[in-house]
Parts: sequence; C-alpha cells; structure tokens
Amino acid sequence: MQVFNNYSKYGLFAKLFHWITFIALLAQVPFGFYLVGLEFSDQRIELENIHIIIGITIFYITVFRLIWKLFNPSPTESKSFFKGQILIGKVNHLLLYLSIFAITISGMLKKLYMGETLNFFFFKYGFEKDNFLLADAFYEVHIYANYLLLALVTLHILAVVVHHFIFKDKILNKIT
Ligand code: HEM
Ligand code: HEM
Repeated sequence: MQVFNNYSKYGLFAKLFHWITFIALLAQVPFGFYLVGLEFSDQRIELENIHIIIGITIFYITVFRLIWKLFNPSPTESKSFFKGQILIGKVNHLLLYLSIFAITISGMLKKLYMGETLNFFFFKYGFEKDNFLLADAFYEVHIYANYLLLALVTLHILAVVVHHFIFKDKILNKIT
C-alpha cells in the first residue's frame, strides 16, 4: 500500500488520520452528551478527564493531519457531475476541519477560563486569572460547534452514499 497520496488515491497516513479521527469522534460526541447528564461525583471528574485527554488527542491528530496534507496534497482526480460539485466537497472538508478545531479549542478555553491547569501531554498550562463569563461563552461555542460537526458529517456521509450508489464513481476506493 502506498504511503503518500497520489492524484487518484489517499495514501496510508491520510487514511489512518481519517479513520482514527472518525472512530475517536464516534466515541467522543456521545460521550460528551452523556457526561453533561451525570451528577457531580468523583467518577464524573474522572470521565471528564478522559473526555479531555481524547479531545486533546483529536486536536493533535488534526494538526499533524493538516501538516501532512500541506506536504502531501489530497487526490485531485474527481469526476464532476454538476457545476460546483468539487467546490462543495472542498468547502465541506474545510468546514469539517474548522469545526473540529472550534470544538477542541473552545473546550480547552472553557477549562482554562475556569482557572484550571490543562495537561497538553508535552507541557502543562493554565491561565493566571479565571473568567467565568468567558468560560460559559466558550462552552456555548463547544456545544454549537458539536451540532455543526454533526450536520457536516451527515452531509459528508450522504454525499459519499450518493456518489457510491447513484454516480457509481467508486469514491470510497480513494480512502479505503
Ligand atoms: C467523523 C466523521 C468524518 C469526518 C470528520 C470526515 C472528514 C473528512 C475530511 C476532512 C476529508 C477530506 C480529507 C482531505 O483531503 O483533507 C474526508 C474525505 C473523505 N471521507 Fe470522510 N469523514 C468522516 C467520515 C466518513 C465516513 C463514515 C465515510 C464513508 C462512508 C467517509 C468517506 C470519505 C471519502 C470517500 C473521502 C474522500 C472524498 C474525496 O476526496 O472526494 N468519511 N473526510
Ligand atoms: C473533538 C473533540 C471533542 C468533542 C467531539 C466534544 C464533545 C462534547 C460534547 C458533545 C459535550 C456535551 C455538550 C452539552 O450538551 O452540554 C461536551 C462537554 C464538555 N467538553 Fe467536550 N468535546 C471535545 C473535546 C473537548 C476538549 C479538548 C475539552 C477540554 C480540554 C472538552 C471539555 C468539555 C467539558 C469540560 C465539557 C462539559 C462537561 C461538564 O458538564 O462539565 N471537550 N464535549
């Protein structure tokens, strides 16, 4: 299997980044919604810490993924069945990346403005002063960016289904 992308197919690393992120998000989104419904307890604090570790991991994976993409551009070969189709795909991908950053960075800022220190694996960091108003505002961003991600992923999967079954252009072969 080729390691780098070529004009028609994603390489091993791009595929790994895509499917590992998919599995992590599949767990993380429902986990987040489950977490907020729990009563305050030691177990809740522990689960929240796991949520944060997974979230920061997704953040790093997405940063590495974009650095990789910078040096190893995505496949360009695409059949266009209607005007603007390739552009719609590109915008969907861009917004998917942006929503992942909006979720992870707003989650971090919520905790930092609560006055907590976060473990970023390579270093620990905390703000000197808390600000509960900003913490609440970033938490709102965290929630709405999750809804945006869900909408974008739904569109993304619908597009793949349409390509696969209606246009029959074997789009899935690019990333599997
Ligand atoms: C959490 C869910 C998912 C996210 C966040 C996501 C995100 C992305 C992103 C950002 C790209 C663009 C990669 C690039 O070139 O930079 C992409 C490509 C792609 N994804 Fe997903 N994806 C998800 C789930 C899925 C699923 C479930 C499928 C299959 C049913 C799928 C099939 C594809 C295909 C076929 C491409 C290549 C599209 C093309 O180059 O024309 N994705 N995905
Ligand atoms: C892509 C990664 C992430 C996803 C998909 C995600 C998803 C979610 C969801 C769906 C909720 C529930 C929101 C609600 O309905 O109220 C939530 C809550 C939360 N998330 Fe995340 N999150 C991610 C990353 C992070 C990160 C990186 C942090 C912090 C560093 C974080 C901190 C929190 C906190 C503190 C809560 C609220 C728990 C509470 O009720 O106190 N999340 N997250």
